[in-house]
Parts: sequence; structure tokens; C-alpha cells
Amino acid sequence: MPLLRQNAVPLLETQSLAIEYRSGAAAVAAVQDFSIVVREGESVALVGESGSGKSTVARAALGLLPPRTARISAGRLLIEGQDVTAYSQKQWEQIRGHPVAMVFQDPLSFLNPVMRVGKQIAESVRRHDPATPDVMARVAELLDLVRLPANTIRAYPHELSGGMRQRVLLAIALGCRPKLLIADEPTTALDVTTQAEILALLRDLRQRLGMAMLLISHDLGVVWEECERVYVMFRSRIVEAGATQTVFAHPAHAYTAGLIKAARAARNADGRFATIEGEFSTTADSP
Ligand SMILES: Nc1ncnc2c1ncn2[C@@H]1O[C@H](COP(=O)(O)OP(=O)(O)OP(=O)(O)O)[C@@H](O)[C@H]1O
Ligand SMILES: [Mg+2]
Repeated sequence: MPLLRQNAVPLLETQSLAIEYRSGAAAVAAVQDFSIVVREGESVALVGESGSGKSTVARAALGLLPPRTARISAGRLLIEGQDVTAYSQKQWEQIRGHPVAMVFQDPLSFLNPVMRVGKQIAESVRRHDPATPDVMARVAELLDLVRLPANTIRAYPHELSGGMRQRVLLAIALGCRPKLLIADEPTTALDVTTQAEILALLRDLRQRLGMAMLLISHDLGVVWEECERVYVMFRSRIVEAGATQTVFAHPAHAYTAGLIKAARAARNADGRFATIEGEFSTTADSP
């Protein structure tokens, strides 16, 4: 499998990407010299401290950077080999959702509060998969795929729990038939049980649909369980990258070692990652 993936066309690739935000005369370099590759079928993690630039990368990969304040100041962004660095909003509208779609941390900020859930999913299907013969049948199929009851179709977002809303977001994203799903802290706002359910659902969908995933997370326990490779960001740059097992066993950067140590403490506190005791602990304690 790893060999096959090496040869696959990268779904998402950045080459020394730099992104800055401007406010007045000042410019903040939010992302610098950022190079990653995500290939078909892979599950890859992007981790890093708050403010290190993870969501900025995710927004850039969907053409969703705020146009007035943010800009790609250097490097290239490629989607399925196509250079999209200088794409206009119009061009982005053609490709957004397919091959790359995204789910966000806060579903409520993405959903329309006064529109029934079924209609919002249907809009996504009509827009991104216009050849669909029976849109409402496809909506029912998508609800089933994310394991929501069929009557969710008539619900408004406020009538649903946080976990159900995240499933709706997922249904909207899957309506685009993405090859790569970027999940930006998809479970951070949820309680532990619901988190585990959403992660299990993501894993199942990845396997069933052969979809790749770029998971943005603070939770190294989750990364350990869900992702074969990991990139670690620190202050706008990638400081470490590699196979999850290797990075966890031999973190090269002090920040990564600290993260692993913190994750181990959290795991010990709630007992969630008891199964990975050995590998998870090796060198993380060394200064
Ligand atoms: N719309 C914006 N305007 C100006 N600066 C921004 C904007 N969005 C983010 N930034 C800045 O860019 C940097 C990176 O932010 P980003 O949201 O990408 O970090 P993050 O790694 O996703 O953090 P978190 O883990 O808290 O979600 C931060 O310094 C942040 O303050
Ligand atoms: Mg973020």
C-alpha cells in the first residue's frame, strides 16, 4: 500500500507556501515555507499549537481565505496537480467541494439557521453533483451514510445536538463527492463520547468511499489512532513531518516532544489511549 500511494497523484500539495494577513500597514506571516503532500486514500494529520496557522492552510486549500485581508505571498498550491495559487473566486467556485471538501469545528457558523437541514444538503448536491437524477433520494442516502435518522431532513439546525450537526456538515461535504476531506478540529466542540462516534464515522467513511483525509487536531491521541502520517506546525512553520509512529517514537522537535508528553498525561487522566502505552511513551520524556 505505501508504494502504491507514493505513485498516486497528490490530491493536495503545497510548495513553500506562505500566507499573510494584513491589517492596515502591518502584515502577519501566518504560514511560512509550508510544504505538504496528501495523496489518494491517505489519512494525514496537521497538528500544532493554537495560532500556528493550521486553519489558515485549510482555508487556503478551499479558496476560502478572506480576500481583503489575506493573501498567498509566496509558493504554490496545487490540487490534483493543477496550480490553483492564483485562482479567482469564480474559478474556486468551480472546484470547491470536489476534489477537496471540508468540515469545520463549529457547524452552526456554517449552517443556515432558518433553512431545513434537508434543503441545505440538497443545495450542496445540486451545486456540486448536478447530474444527480433524484436529489432528494441522494439526500436520504447521504443522511443514511452519516447515520442520521431519515426525519432529520425536516429539522432545523437548532433542533439538533452538536454531534448531529457535525454529521449534517459531513453530509453536505460528502454531497460533493470529495476525494479529500479536510476536517478542521471536527470534534473539539463535542463531548468525549460524541467525539469518538464522529471519529469512528470518519474512519468508516474513509474506508467505504476510499476518501483521503487531512485531519487538523490538537489531540495527539486521535492522530495516533486515525492518521498514518503527521505534520507538526509551530509558529507558522512545519517543524516536523513523518510516519506517525516514527514521529511519536522519536520526536525531533522540543515542541512535538512536549505535545506527546501532554497527550500522554491527558490519556492517563481519562484512560482513553491505554492500548498504546508502549509506543506512545518511549522518548517523549527526554528534554
Ligand atoms: N482573519 C484573520 N485576520 C487576521 N489574522 C488572522 C485571521 N485569521 C487568523 N489570523 C492569524 O493568523 C495566525 C494563524 O491563525 P490560524 O487560525 O490559522 O491558527 P490555528 O493553527 O488554526 O489555531 P487554532 O488551533 O487556535 O485553531 C494567527 O496569528 C491568527 O491570529
Ligand atoms: Mg484553527
